[in-house]
Amino acid sequence: GDRKVEMSNLEQGRYINYQRIEDNLQVVRSRLNTPLTLAEKIVYGHLDNPHEQDIQRGVSYLKLRPDRVACQDATAQMAILQFMSAGLPQTAVPTSVHCDHLIQAQIGGVKDLARAIDINKEVYDFLATACAKYGIGFWKPGSGIIHQIILENYAAPGLMMIGTDSHTPNAGGLGMVACGVGGADAVDVMAGIPWELKAPKVIGVYLDGKMSGWTTPKDIILKVAGILTVKGGTGAIIEYFGPGVDTLSCTGMATICNMGAEIGATTSLFPYNSKMQGYLEATNRSDIASYANEFRHNLTPDEGCEYDQRIEINLSELEPHVNGPFTPDLATPISKFAAEVKKNDWPAELKVGLIGSCTNSSYEDMSRSAHIAREAAAHGLKAKSLFTITPGSEQVRATIARDGMIETFEDIGGVVLANACGPCIGQWDRQDIQKGEKNSIITSYNRNFTGRNDANPATHAFVASPDLVTAMIFAGDLTFNPLTDSLKGSDGKEFKFTEPRGDELPSRGYDPGENTFQAPPKDGSSVNVAVSPSSDRLQLLTPFKPWDGKDIIDAPVLIKAKGKCTTDHISAGGPWLKYRGHLENISQNCLIGAINADSGEANKILNQKTGEFGAVPTVAAAYRDAGIPWIVVGDENYGEGSSREHAALEPRFLGGAAVLCRSFARIHETNLKKQGMLPLWFKNGADYDKISGTDKISILGLNSFKPGQDIELEIKHEDGSTEKILSTTSINEGQWEWFKAGSALNMMASAAKA
Ligand code: F3S
Repeated sequence: GDRKVEMSNLEQGRYINYQRIEDNLQVVRSRLNTPLTLAEKIVYGHLDNPHEQDIQRGVSYLKLRPDRVACQDATAQMAILQFMSAGLPQTAVPTSVHCDHLIQAQIGGVKDLARAIDINKEVYDFLATACAKYGIGFWKPGSGIIHQIILENYAAPGLMMIGTDSHTPNAGGLGMVACGVGGADAVDVMAGIPWELKAPKVIGVYLDGKMSGWTTPKDIILKVAGILTVKGGTGAIIEYFGPGVDTLSCTGMATICNMGAEIGATTSLFPYNSKMQGYLEATNRSDIASYANEFRHNLTPDEGCEYDQRIEINLSELEPHVNGPFTPDLATPISKFAAEVKKNDWPAELKVGLIGSCTNSSYEDMSRSAHIAREAAAHGLKAKSLFTITPGSEQVRATIARDGMIETFEDIGGVVLANACGPCIGQWDRQDIQKGEKNSIITSYNRNFTGRNDANPATHAFVASPDLVTAMIFAGDLTFNPLTDSLKGSDGKEFKFTEPRGDELPSRGYDPGENTFQAPPKDGSSVNVAVSPSSDRLQLLTPFKPWDGKDIIDAPVLIKAKGKCTTDHISAGGPWLKYRGHLENISQNCLIGAINADSGEANKILNQKTGEFGAVPTVAAAYRDAGIPWIVVGDENYGEGSSREHAALEPRFLGGAAVLCRSFARIHETNLKKQGMLPLWFKNGADYDKISGTDKISILGLNSFKPGQDIELEIKHEDGSTEKILSTTSINEGQWEWFKAGSALNMMASAAKA
């Protein structure tokens, strides 16, 4: 147990702590007295306090200590700006930042990358310098996609990671509990605050048999998505087990875990096995493999453990699937797909086939696709549809280039894009069709919601294995089934594709390619973080002011919001995302989507000081600049939707003091607390009707407030009449300290100084 094995070859002195899992589980076992699933072993193995933590699947909120954090460049900006304001010298756990989301696919890898580096220079410079200062590993643009790089360098069995991207679960292919989170959670863990997660339920997927022919790991998750639907995994970890598991490649398991995000799962997970060992060895981490072998008993489920739900799939009978259009859970086996295309009037002509991405760009995927492409080329064929290849990392690109596959793809008309997200996240300057034109594309990516790839709502995007995508581009037709149908070669003769073959791992080893990693210097304290004061995309944060110890008196109601008020209503996405590193600029979208209960209109509210109507952000800033705190009043489930932390940062930045609602969505409520705002619940929901946008509200008795107590409010109506109502709050002792300090990070900062 006293072995020291580094978590990654890229970080010195940061060790894997399998002993903590062992020790935690000893405590947890004595309390629960029941066989444990693998998901439970790893999750409970990371409990902050195994002795006192309440543990009930689907019920308790667990306080956890993840081993590391990963951020992609779009979400990293605000996360790092916030971390900086905590005033800590280094991140509390090893962290990495990956530049993959901001590179647009236009012409091809090299030129697209050069253009992106130019356009996004200030963002990249900021991230590079901030990473150097705070001890964060920085992966430059061109290095590859976050999840592939994590698999190659940082994922390890039994560890726990959070990442600010929904497909973080990809690392489950190496037996890691890896969860996608919002920026606020990432900041907490970087600052040393435990991470809170509702104790996940566990869905067991039993795999029996062995795949053959055209069936691939992708087809397992396409099938599971069809069974569970896009909501079926919510609140659960999906754990695979059974004899079929050992027949899958490690990278294939990663594909399955990656796409588990499509069914809403907290994460997905495979037990440690020899395939993982082989992948660790191939990526220069045999020491981790041998350490994992010693701790295998904690990296596999207990016999007799119980799943909340159980699914069985016989791999010997599993057909290749095509999922879509418009949703990843509409699963059709290839044998029935042509008929579905005709029946549903989906455009049969295949415009574009896209392979690769974080989901499916392993050596195995690429070599099977290259096998198909070579066979077509031998019959004199070129791709009929446009064909793009997105390598998941520089290492994948360099290795498949060395082994001749890039040449194979280019010979049949393929275009190799940059090692980046590109069309998968809509970074695609698509030229072959007009917006609004009905058309079909097929990808080996994971997500196919309307408009995701090319912003054209009429594009029918289907998802399948890279094998099916590659075969179909030679037919140029969605009704082509390579298992049964033939194509005509250039000699006029019909031929059928043979079953694709590939290698799980490159026989000559991986070629690392260009070095695209910036390791942090040993001492980054003298590094200057590059943020231009004239930038409109980035702005350093100024810590929010601590509470002055007084009650909040006569705070005008900024807006009484009616009906649904999601984080999208509070902080809109789309074009605003450009400003996600600039709080002042992005705050111009604050609550502009909320419906004013007094008028039924959006973004038009009364300025109680001037008596004039104005836009919500304008009126809010005017109050703030006059030193007047304000309050938002909301209905049920205020702040539901994505966990976007801007929805809490913006009202605080604009001078908000509290949000008073019938009920809150939990994550947003916590985010408000973290930023030093008071989330208050009407004790009596009907009191919502007593308030209008012309009222002022006083929050009383704060000085003697103790968590658990009600808080008294006084409403002052326009005519001068007043009435008192009660509110409740879920603020606990620790969170009350956040409020007093002005924010959770302020508190961390003062603790660090003390
Ligand atoms: Fe990027 Fe698409 Fe994966 S956006 S991280 S390649 S899901």
